[in-house]
Amino acid sequence: MHFADLGLAPAITSALDAAGYTTPTPVQAASIPAALAGHDLLVSAQTGSGKTAAFLLPSLQKLTERSTGSGQGPRILVLTPTRELAQQVEKNATEYGSQLRWLRTVCLVGGASFGYQIRAMARPVDIMVATPGRLMDHMRSGRIDFSRLEMLILDEADRMLDMGFIEDIETIVKATPDSRQTVLFSATLDGTVGKLAQKLTRDPQRIEIAREETGGNIEEHLLYADDNRHKERLLDHILKEAGFDQAVIFTATKIGSEELADKLSDQGYAAACLHGDMPQNWRNRTLNDLRRGRVRILVATDVAARGIDVPTITHVVNYDLPKQAEDYVHRIGRTGRAGRDGVAITLAESKEFHKVRRIEQYLKRQITEGVIEGMEPTRRPPKGGPRRAGSGKPGERRGGGYGGNNRKPGGNGGYGNRGPRQGGSGGGYGNRTTRAAD
Ligand SMILES: Nc1ncnc2c1ncn2[C@@H]1O[C@H](COP(=O)(O)OP(=O)(O)OP(=O)(O)O)[C@@H](O)[C@H]1O
Ligand SMILES: [Mg+2]
Repeated sequence: MHFADLGLAPAITSALDAAGYTTPTPVQAASIPAALAGHDLLVSAQTGSGKTAAFLLPSLQKLTERSTGSGQGPRILVLTPTRELAQQVEKNATEYGSQLRWLRTVCLVGGASFGYQIRAMARPVDIMVATPGRLMDHMRSGRIDFSRLEMLILDEADRMLDMGFIEDIETIVKATPDSRQTVLFSATLDGTVGKLAQKLTRDPQRIEIAREETGGNIEEHLLYADDNRHKERLLDHILKEAGFDQAVIFTATKIGSEELADKLSDQGYAAACLHGDMPQNWRNRTLNDLRRGRVRILVATDVAARGIDVPTITHVVNYDLPKQAEDYVHRIGRTGRAGRDGVAITLAESKEFHKVRRIEQYLKRQITEGVIEGMEPTRRPPKGGPRRAGSGKPGERRGGGYGGNNRKPGGNGGYGNRGPRQGGSGGGYGNRTTRAAD
């Protein structure tokens, strides 16, 4: 199937050609025609599967037709939970719309100058991408005119609700015309998101693209540690042996991300931290440096867990466990983008085994527990704790994917393979473990 078959104009498909997109991903193939037909949509699909284009391409297609509305407010509004994600979505819009010379986009996020944003809105706007807080600021000052808005898109809707944006979203939606089309992307479509969706949408189509169980492209490992010092030694080993191109390391706290980034910098790595208390221009610079390859290791809080697309990231390390089980999925999804392979390594203190189990319950599968020779934890999680996937023999905890009994540990030291996967090789950390209890 080609993008042209989905009803997109040549100006759009040629921009996709230039971007190297040859075929639509499943979520794009399902969402684009439905959005073009005017349906409200509730969509969920796995990380890195191209959801951004799934909502931006039909938006751009709509923009190729003249607005029938009056005023110069946005015709398309995209809401995202974080500033970085808003900026990335705007960038994608200009890339996919590069052949639409008249296209005007504006990004309204906190931490950036009001003056610039106000000036950008002095002329007609086609696509507005915003975080709810800053958009509300502009709305309160009477600067936003939604009278010709055709489409409202919520990206990472569940995350926006987690962050407490529900009232802002409701206020924003109330200011938009009832005639609008609403498209909601979310990791989950149940619970509070489902309730919100019910309020915001009319007779929506549900599009849920199941995770590819057979082609799982992120190789996952779990390593237990006795304490923080032990975790430091494990991380040291991982960074030396994993053969990573670029890595994101997630920590639980802002201060933790700063300390770890400092330590890694002292060790000679091109490392930087990213968290929500940093000045925005610093945050932007850090992410740009990561995209350009000037930063090899990003140490981040969960502010970087959602949506951020840096395809060159080969490894994700959960240095601290995520607070919420679903964040595990989003964190590890920063690697293995667009069908690439990736490696995700999770460190947990033995006493945190119940948190690991919660994550596994959420995943409905186990994460293979491994050990690094000479760095085994002295305390093991209690019986009945997370078993490694593999032989399934009760009580036998070692020898899983990571330096297994019948595999030479270490070897080339690779955590999985870089580039195209060479089944099962990769020295020691062999087994692919993304699939359910395989
Ligand atoms: N049809 C396509 N062909 C090739 N690459 C694509 C295609 N669609 C999207 N991509 C690329 O896939 C990557 C992931 O896309 P995107 O960020 O939209 O994923 P996502 O589903 O929103 O992920 P997340 O859940 O993490 O937000 C991007 O680098 C994008 O350029
Ligand atoms: Mg996304």
